[in-house]
Amino acid sequence: MDSVVSLPLLGYVAAAVIAILYCCNPSAIFKRLLRRNLSTGSANQIVFITGCDSGLGFSFALHAHKLGFTVLAGCLQPDGEGSKQLLQLCPERLQVLGLDITNETSVMAAVRAVEDMLVEVPDLELRALINNAGVMIFGEFEWLTEQHIQHQINVNLLGTMRITKRFCPMLRKYKGRVITVTSHCALATLPGLAVYGATKAGLAAWCDGLRVEQAKYGVRVITFIPGSFIEHSSIMARQLEYAREMEEAMTSLDHQFFDDYFRRYNQYLSAIPVAARPVPIPNDKLYSLLGEALLSDYPYSNYECGPFRYKCYHFLMKISPTWIRDGLVQRFVKMPEF
Ligand SMILES: *[C@@H]1O[C@H](CO)[C@@H](O)[C@H](O)[C@H]1NC(C)=O
Repeated sequence: MDSVVSLPLLGYVAAAVIAILYCCNPSAIFKRLLRRNLSTGSANQIVFITGCDSGLGFSFALHAHKLGFTVLAGCLQPDGEGSKQLLQLCPERLQVLGLDITNETSVMAAVRAVEDMLVEVPDLELRALINNAGVMIFGEFEWLTEQHIQHQINVNLLGTMRITKRFCPMLRKYKGRVITVTSHCALATLPGLAVYGATKAGLAAWCDGLRVEQAKYGVRVITFIPGSFIEHSSIMARQLEYAREMEEAMTSLDHQFFDDYFRRYNQYLSAIPVAARPVPIPNDKLYSLLGEALLSDYPYSNYECGPFRYKCYHFLMKISPTWIRDGLVQRFVKMPEF
């Protein structure tokens, strides 16, 4: 008899709790509905993407184009294979711009090109800046040359800040959004990627501040964690070259000490396949999340696209004591042993 009475009571209590939760934030219901209620992109809206030569940027440019946007694809090599393919696959509504985000002159030229377009075609507006360009140099911190360290910070962190700063007035005018590609390394830095992880964690921290600053101007600041697509990107393409530079910079003491380990480490890395030519990354979830970040009226502040395995690892790392966490990290990267 007791259970018959308490069942509906339990229902009322649950309903009341949910109602209270929503009443605290009445817009939450609508936001949740609207998030999925997406329109398509318009040719009147510009999406500017950095680092479109290959991999993620190349794939994002193709997808933004497919969604109907006018795409400005920043390429480090405007005559390279990636930019040729982009122009071939998207004969309309896509332009390639030579862009090196470590070079202020190059950044200003790209910004002026966008400004000119916006002036020439009054209907045009700036929908989004996608900060994708990035460099990853694999190797223990001790091995990295000063140049390797500076290059990653210069591109990933300073370059992204440099171009975003120049885009701010336009983003404000059109109430656009900044989507910055970070990494799972921003959540948990991996050994062998300490500097890369630092730049990505730096980007995440920067976006946290920028998001609140820009919200009042109607500019949305979004981070995007794309998961691992090493085999479809050229992010590892120059790794052999980097390894040679590390070896050359080593002292004879380092040589003696790291000798076999350094060799096995780099053999392991060189076995990772590198895409010979730019290919669209085959991952539906990646594109649906990008679509949501670009189109939704109420986008999330962070999108994360990774295999379920990554989520489990990150959860375990977060709740574990350091000695378990560090063991997990080592299992996760599976690098050769010292
Ligand atoms: C910077 O960019 C400008 C314009 O694209 C170019 O003329 C110049 O050579 C670049 N400088 C460096 C150091 O790459």
